[in-house]
Amino acid sequence: MVADKRIGVVGFGYIGSVIGAVLANRGARVIGVEPSPRIRTLVAAGRAPAPEPGLEELVNAAVVAGRLEITDDPSVLSDVDVVLITVGTPLAEDGSADTSQLTGAVETIAPHLRDGQLILLKSTVPPGLTEKLAPILRGHANTLVAFSPERLAEGRAIAEFQTIPVVVGGVDPESTRAGVEFWRGALDVDVIQVSSATGAELVKLADNLWIDLNIALGNELAQICDRLGGIDVLEVISAANSLPKVQHHVNILTPSIGVGGYCLTKDPWFVHSMGKSLGLDLQTPRVSREVNDAMAEYSAASIDGVIGGAEASPRLAILGVAFKTDTGDVRYTPTLPVMKQLLDRGYHLVAFDPFVDREELGEFGIDWADSAEEALSGADAVAFFTGHRQFADLTPEWLRSKTWGHVAFVTRGWVDEFDSPGHRRGRIHRQSSCRSAARTRGHGAGLRPGRRREEPQPRSGPRPSAVPLHTARYPRS
Ligand SMILES: NC(=O)c1ccc[n+]([C@@H]2O[C@H](COP(=O)([O-])OP(=O)(O)OC[C@H]3O[C@@H](n4cnc5c(N)ncnc54)[C@H](O)[C@@H]3O)[C@@H](O)[C@H]2O)c1
Repeated sequence: MVADKRIGVVGFGYIGSVIGAVLANRGARVIGVEPSPRIRTLVAAGRAPAPEPGLEELVNAAVVAGRLEITDDPSVLSDVDVVLITVGTPLAEDGSADTSQLTGAVETIAPHLRDGQLILLKSTVPPGLTEKLAPILRGHANTLVAFSPERLAEGRAIAEFQTIPVVVGGVDPESTRAGVEFWRGALDVDVIQVSSATGAELVKLADNLWIDLNIALGNELAQICDRLGGIDVLEVISAANSLPKVQHHVNILTPSIGVGGYCLTKDPWFVHSMGKSLGLDLQTPRVSREVNDAMAEYSAASIDGVIGGAEASPRLAILGVAFKTDTGDVRYTPTLPVMKQLLDRGYHLVAFDPFVDREELGEFGIDWADSAEEALSGADAVAFFTGHRQFADLTPEWLRSKTWGHVAFVTRGWVDEFDSPGHRRGRIHRQSSCRSAARTRGHGAGLRPGRRREEPQPRSGPRPSAVPLHTARYPRS
């Protein structure tokens, strides 16, 4: 049972705070060890240190119940039963894993460990690192050391942490057993035992390489559909995915404006770098990264193909800036390179994202709005870059009534989450007809060079009934 456990969480960032808050709410006594004063202040006040839905409530409940504390003093770890290490492992300049936070944490905590404690490394690392660090973690005490990758996805982190199977591999059988036993008591999930820590490390990288590659496949299929014209890539993918293959199905993921976030943008490079260290010139990680990174330029060009062409600077409302649905995480968000490309093409961008802390993105030439309505006011077009759930309430009629050029389109794959047979990339094919429709009806007049732009007329009458946006992706003429 986790209720009788004292757990130390080293690194109380995005992942550490989710894990720590969930385990505390399941009855454990959790203490976070975190160097950032900002994070410590937030957590001590019962606030979430990461923009994850539901996290603030969990942190607050745990702090109020006295089951979650935070400190920068690693000596508190001598009093815990289990230590989870969740520090960052960013990408180094040379494309390898920068493991300095992890080695630093291990060296700092090692003198405070005691016999019998279980140390679980959860940060994503190149295979072999847990084996290398184990002697340090055992330098002062006879600890049990295992690797247990964190595989949750942001935006659904709290639910996923408590539902997806946990993988554990120890540096010896006793450590593996202890890791399996801990997770069985802590969460009601399947616990998958692998026979080495190195194998468990590779599991995480294999998962993320698969995801990145499959999105790359979806992105290239989308480009094929664009060139073919009139082919709905989501329909193609949905039908293709019906094919049973061994014990599962083909599972091509949905295309997007790019891939972002802390993990998918770096983990394939970890694999590539690991390959080099093993004398292998691995192609798949490099290709998936290159294909997905190139989507920024492709997406900006696609948008420009619809609403560009006029000499006046088009005003584009952007809804959603975070890299993922329902989070405010902007780390390596692909929306940023798309916006930069559009700025270079002379666009005036007004963005709204209810979850994003604008300070984190800094100044780069866009205007921020405080609501979708404000972003759309006077805009020639709107682009949905992140599929936050609240945007699903915006109807095509409402969008049409707010945008100047009467062009609305969606550029991010969120339709599946709303249970719709959507046409996300299909928009690319419809954009030209959409534009010509707007021009025929004179709606594009505001884009003509030399014409003074008038304010859109306020619309009266009741708001249209809530037609989910994805059921009518484009304004239909
Ligand atoms: N974010 C995700 O969606 C996700 C998902 C699965 C796995 N992961 C992996 O989990 C790990 C953590 O990711 P994250 O998004 O939480 O990163 P993060 O940067 O949000 O959090 C890492 C935290 O560790 C702290 N830290 C750094 N050095 C420390 C030290 N010596 N002692 C104690 N704390 C220290 C940092 O101050 C920071 O708060 C990474 O390896 C990442 O690849 C992340």
